[in-house]
Amino acid sequence: MTELTESVRLEMRDDVALVIVNNPPVNALSHHVRQGLLDGMHQAAQNEAVAVVLICDGRTFIAGADISEFGGERLGPDLPEVQDAMENCPKPVVAAIHGTALGGGLEVALCAHYRVAVESAKFGLPEVKLGLLPGAGGTQRLPRVTGVPKALQMMTSGDQIGASEALMCGLVDQVVEDLETGAIALARKAAHEGWPLTKIRDRNEKLQETESDPDLFSNFRKSIARKTRGFLAPEYNVQCVEAAISGTFEEGLAAERRLFTDLMTGSQSGAQRYYFFAERAANKIPDVPRDTPVVDVQHCGVLGAGTMGGGIAMNFANVGIAVTIVERDQESLDRGLAVVRKNYERSASRGSIAPEDVDRRMALITGSIDKNDFAGCDMVIEAVFEDMELKKTIFAELDAICRQGAVLASNTSALDVNEIASATSRPQSVIGMHFFSPANVMKMLEVVRGDKTSDTVIQTAMTIAKKIAKVPVLVGVCHGFVGNRMLFMRRIEADKMVLEGATPDQVDRVLFDFGFPMGPFAMSDLAGLDIGWKAENSKSDSVRDIMNESGRKGQKNGRGYYTYDPDTRAATPDPDVVAMIREFAVGRGIEQREVTDQEVLERCLYPMVNEGAKILEEGIAIRGSDIDVVWVNGYGWPMYRGGPMYWADEVGLTEVVASIKDYGERLGGAHWKLSPLLERLATEGGSLH
Ligand code: 3HC
Ligand code: NAI
Repeated sequence: MTELTESVRLEMRDDVALVIVNNPPVNALSHHVRQGLLDGMHQAAQNEAVAVVLICDGRTFIAGADISEFGGERLGPDLPEVQDAMENCPKPVVAAIHGTALGGGLEVALCAHYRVAVESAKFGLPEVKLGLLPGAGGTQRLPRVTGVPKALQMMTSGDQIGASEALMCGLVDQVVEDLETGAIALARKAAHEGWPLTKIRDRNEKLQETESDPDLFSNFRKSIARKTRGFLAPEYNVQCVEAAISGTFEEGLAAERRLFTDLMTGSQSGAQRYYFFAERAANKIPDVPRDTPVVDVQHCGVLGAGTMGGGIAMNFANVGIAVTIVERDQESLDRGLAVVRKNYERSASRGSIAPEDVDRRMALITGSIDKNDFAGCDMVIEAVFEDMELKKTIFAELDAICRQGAVLASNTSALDVNEIASATSRPQSVIGMHFFSPANVMKMLEVVRGDKTSDTVIQTAMTIAKKIAKVPVLVGVCHGFVGNRMLFMRRIEADKMVLEGATPDQVDRVLFDFGFPMGPFAMSDLAGLDIGWKAENSKSDSVRDIMNESGRKGQKNGRGYYTYDPDTRAATPDPDVVAMIREFAVGRGIEQREVTDQEVLERCLYPMVNEGAKILEEGIAIRGSDIDVVWVNGYGWPMYRGGPMYWADEVGLTEVVASIKDYGERLGGAHWKLSPLLERLATEGGSLH
């Protein structure tokens, strides 16, 4: 055995050389890995070996470039030098893949002459998620192996494919049971039988297949337009594949290099790479050690089968966890379960789950109208109406029914978790788990720790969140927690601006153009304008009152701030609404004027930044990046702008502070009162993220 560098070693298995990478946690291509691979290839080329196997220790094959090295000093050999050594090795080189071969890792594997993998292995080029494109020949080699359509799909989505699919599309040559044995056997066979040492760069047959479809690229662009709006990287990835077709391999590489550098030095990738680490940082809770014991949640209870409860139950059933869902009466239960089934059926008809999964998942969900059926549950999540007295009554009941040690969670979107916990004899077991709607789709989960919530309960909520494919962020108790508390601030200003002369359509458009999926008024229409509104209490003293009084309920009846096409649901701004708002505002003596788009943006976003800073100084969020994770995942803040805290830093805190002070003086209102933390950071040159 030869230690080549701190993370790569060379071992012989009779006549086959193994170059072994060991760079935990994910065998990223740090400079010492690149150096070790280069040295390993050179040594194996010259020693007595007949073939070389590249294999990794630990949980995965190389999962990509070392992102933490990006933007830093360049150390060690560049990746293409390593790849050249592999491709030009005079002996067969076999990549042996387990775990995830991602990004630069897959690009390395594409320079081996052959690839073997275990059945559980996954393959992907996720660079697009970091605002990048594969910068080590991946954009040129992948389409040569898989064909253009598959490569386009993998590169622009960043999604992974499994070993069977990889085998089918030519990305791997063999799926084996025992990785090392299988890879060595194939390497030896290739050497002894004199298999060709074909380089993928020389294979053009799959590129030529595209000649029969002149519209391939334009159709593909159309198909991803909606999903990738605002992002630069998907388009750049497409351009690289176009370059693969229109020129030589070397010309394609040159285009890849140029476009990669553009992205790498641009603001979007900076934000997206920041976001990657932000999401991972959110898992780290300073005062709750990672090895804190957790409750093993094998059976989850959900109370309430309404909008949220049904979706929450689905999350658990999706990963094989049994759920008992309890409603107040049979009719509500039946209705709730029918919605769940319909959602599964829709997923099956779209092909996102297998047809047999509908019944399999439904079978994991048991309906009941008796809370005593929660007795055996390890965790119960309450999702009844947003009413403190009701929630307290229910938590007292759960306290009497549930076994000691069970986690008692509330899905409240704003209420005081400490007060809810006070209704039980075990506040240490009570926690908030704030799912976002639709709960089976949205990835965000605010985990709300009460003053007395135990470490075990916090760690259990964070762990189960990952298991059900959510992105959890731990927050503290305050009205609306992190996400909704900041959203309320945006809403105040959006409502005020339409009274001053902006239109709902203008406000929404400015936020849409910024990158949000929709603005506040479209969002209200979607949620329903009549939520929480009661005809008997309505006194025409807010825009919401007059909207409801004129029968506008939002999308549900085709009329809200917009009118909706009954077939397509397309929204059209409604001049009647604008007239109604004008009349209302003038009647209240509010002067009408033109509000610029710039003002709309600033008045929507700066109060959020200010509130975020207050949330930080109160310790409600652990770190600024946690706030960004909530907003990107929970409210569609465009990832390429990092999140509100990151964005404010990019704008410049001095400018943000000056604007907040200025608006505060002109407009008044507690939400414009400058956060002392924000002011200090601006003065000291600090940063919110
Ligand atoms: N570089 C540096 N650190 C990385 C990393 C990378 N490429 N990938 C993961 N890590 C770190 C994480 O920050 C985390 O660190 P922490 O424990 O200190 O928080 C740790 O590894 C474990 O990561 P996860 O918590 O994400 O572990 P999972 O098991 O859930 O997921 C994974 C593993 C699927 C590999 C996931 O980490 C992942 O998707 N990583 C990024 C893969 C990627 O984007 N690769 C492409 C990089 S760009 C590139 O290759 C450019 C090339 O074209 C030149
Ligand atoms: P919903 O009205 O759709 O569903 C509530 C369900 O609880 C109803 O089916 C009702 O029959 C049932 N219920 C009421 N009292 C009950 C009782 N005593 N026993 C058993 N079942 C009972 O409400 P929704 O929207 O699902 O909200 C539930 C909770 O989730 C609220 O606290 C809300 O604030 C929160 N939330 C809602 C979001 C949303 O967008 N709808 C988003 C995030 C959180």
